[in-house]
Order: sequence, then C-alpha cells, then structure tokens
Amino acid sequence: MRKRLIAGNWKMNMLRGEAGELARGVVERTGGLAEKIDIILAPPFTALDAVGDELRGSRVMLAAQNVFWEERGAFTGEISPGMLADAGCSWVIIGHSERRHILRETDEMVRMKIGASLKAGLRVIVCVGETLGERAEGHTIKAVDAQVVKALTGIDIDDPGDLVIAYEPIWAIGTGHHATPAEAEFVQSAIREIAGNILGDLAARIRIVYGGSVNEENIRDLLAEPDIDGALVGGASLKAESMASIVETAGEQ
Ligand code: PGA
Repeated sequence: MRKRLIAGNWKMNMLRGEAGELARGVVERTGGLAEKIDIILAPPFTALDAVGDELRGSRVMLAAQNVFWEERGAFTGEISPGMLADAGCSWVIIGHSERRHILRETDEMVRMKIGASLKAGLRVIVCVGETLGERAEGHTIKAVDAQVVKALTGIDIDDPGDLVIAYEPIWAIGTGHHATPAEAEFVQSAIREIAGNILGDLAARIRIVYGGSVNEENIRDLLAEPDIDGALVGGASLKAESMASIVETAGEQ
C-alpha cells in the first residue's frame, strides 16, 4: 500500500520567527502521526534552517520549493540540490505552476531539476496541472500527459517512494474552487497510466497527490479516491490548526 503524504507549501510567506512558530505548532499537533504518513513542510529558502531546527527530533520532513539543476558554479541566485541537502532538506517541490507561469519555467527545466535532485539524494514532488482554458476546451488530459511525459522521460528512479506527482489544476490553486474528488480521481488515474508507460511497474507504487484549495473540509472525500494518495496544501498549511486537521484526517484509515 502507498503511504499517504501531506505536504505544506508555504510559498513566499513566513519570516523566520513566524516560520519556526508554525513548524513547532505542526510538530506538536501531528508529530505522533509522522510514522504512519509522510508529513512535509516547505518554507521559503530563508526559513529552512529555522524550520529545520524545529523539526529536529521529529519525523516531519523539510522540503524546498525550488532548486537549480547544476551542482555549483556561476549561477547567481540559484541553489543546488546538494545545498538543499546540506540545509537539511530531504524533499524538493519542482515545477509548481506559479514557477512555470510567473517565472517561465519550462518542461525541460523541470526535467533537469528532477534528474539533478534525485541524483543528489533528494526526494521530489513534481507538479502538473491544466489551465482554466485547457480545461474549458476539454484538453485536461492532453495537457497533463505532455507535462508528465516531458518530466519523467529519461529519469532514473530506484525507489518509487522518492517521486511524487502532485496534480494541481491551476484553476483550483488559491481560488477556493477545488476539483471534485471524482474529477481529481479521473485525472490522477490517467496520470498513473501515463507514468506507467514511462516507468513500468513502478508507477503503481509512486504516490500521486492532489493540490488546489485543499482544506479541512474537503480532504476526507478527496482521500477516499483510490488514486489520491495525499495532498499538497497551500493556504491551509499556513495555520498549524488547519494543517494538523488535514494530517489527522489523512492519518485515519
Ligand atoms: P492552495 O495552493 O492550497 O492555496 O490552493 C496549493 C498549491 O499551490 O500547492
């Protein structure tokens, strides 16, 4: 059975003091469940050490929200996979739609980031999802298929636990409009099939999580679907109470 995973993507929020406090609140409320499910916090780069200090001694894991594909050199402003590992990260989020759309990150950049991160021993959450326009035109699967194929082709994974695909329909991110469980399941089962064409049997064992306006109210029904193995949570991860409530629901089963 696939271990459930709940990751909090704090985006560009939280100064170091607030970040430490939030992390402490999450660990206090959910630390006991961290053996049963994977709990991950992704603060901004500047708060990685403050959050890492709070996570020490717990099984809650630290993630970065982005990475560069080279290990070192003249790449002003970038952070390498080895630097993230050195800062205490075991995970990294790659290809979030905000990076693809606002920062113009391409599928090829996403693929290089995944390869470099896995090689450095980081575990990866790669995000895919369709725009509102693609959805309106009935092109959801086509859009997601292209992203998954381009992200995973040529990628070497040994342990299926190291790769997580987050299905995040762009129209559902930060809007309060989440995909229905049936809509998310339809796309996520398609993603598993697409991943299977590339990764073979491993695809049945990688986790596919849903993201986009996940909260305490909708998480239970989302997790009831067979191909929804957890959630990537934005807004609701910024409060210890709501993050803990989501984790607790994921821990029931
Ligand atoms: P949201 O963000 O939960 O605030 O919609 C999710 C995400 O962007 O990962």
